[in-house]
Amino acid sequence: MKQFISLCKFYIKKQYKRSKILPILYNSSKNIIKESIYSYKGLVFDMVWKVDTTKKIDRRVLDIPDREFTWSYEACGVRRFHRIMKRINIDHTKYNFIDIGSGKGRVLLMSIRYNFRRIVGVEFSKKLHETAKRNIENYSKKLGKKECIELFNCNALEFHFPIEPSIIFLFNPFKRAIMERFITNLQQSLTVSPRSVLVVYVHPTEKALLEKTVLLSKTYEDCGRDDFVIFSNR
Ligand SMILES: C[S@@+](CC[C@H](N)C(=O)[O-])C[C@H]1O[C@@H](n2cnc3c(N)ncnc32)[C@H](O)[C@@H]1O
Repeated sequence: MKQFISLCKFYIKKQYKRSKILPILYNSSKNIIKESIYSYKGLVFDMVWKVDTTKKIDRRVLDIPDREFTWSYEACGVRRFHRIMKRINIDHTKYNFIDIGSGKGRVLLMSIRYNFRRIVGVEFSKKLHETAKRNIENYSKKLGKKECIELFNCNALEFHFPIEPSIIFLFNPFKRAIMERFITNLQQSLTVSPRSVLVVYVHPTEKALLEKTVLLSKTYEDCGRDDFVIFSNR
């Protein structure tokens, strides 16, 4: 039987190498499968917690004024988020967790298990903000205790950073024009009130801007499947 299996493997490999179509078919279906697994896990999260966080929303239909500078709504993957959190070595109870561009609130809900001092979400879209509110209510009902998550429905550029140690979580919320101003605001806040801050930037399309900052330095980078960077001033 073992010999038969290795013979089959050998034959498939040989055909794969010879064929022009098979590698193309394999690579395209791999992405479809990955995408389906991603939404499957998100849907399981939604089903278990009776929330609505998985459906993507194209940036062109988001109810925010600066649509051309933003990316579409998409929630951070469940396992990806927890793998990222494992890389952060802090006393969580001393830190706030702030999700900039918190969308429907999935990241906020997932951060509950880490016992942060405060959990804060900042979302520009009114519709997504309202969905996040409902999700937090449903999650709290399911959990059987009220979760204290603070939501701000405003532009991230108008948000006043709490002057306490914080993790600033960014899942690729906006493009260069906004990111530049956001970093300037953060730097100003850190100069006026120095405190420990970690910026966790997932799918960091504008990471070069953070690399240029004087107050923050890169402490961790994952260029693989989780694709994130951590900057810190500690
Ligand atoms: C990729 S989604 C991330 C959602 C959420 N952080 C998560 O992982 O579940 C980016 C979010 O940023 C929001 N956003 C874009 N520009 C913004 C701004 N200037 N101020 C606040 N939120 C913004 C979008 O509406 C969208 O919900």
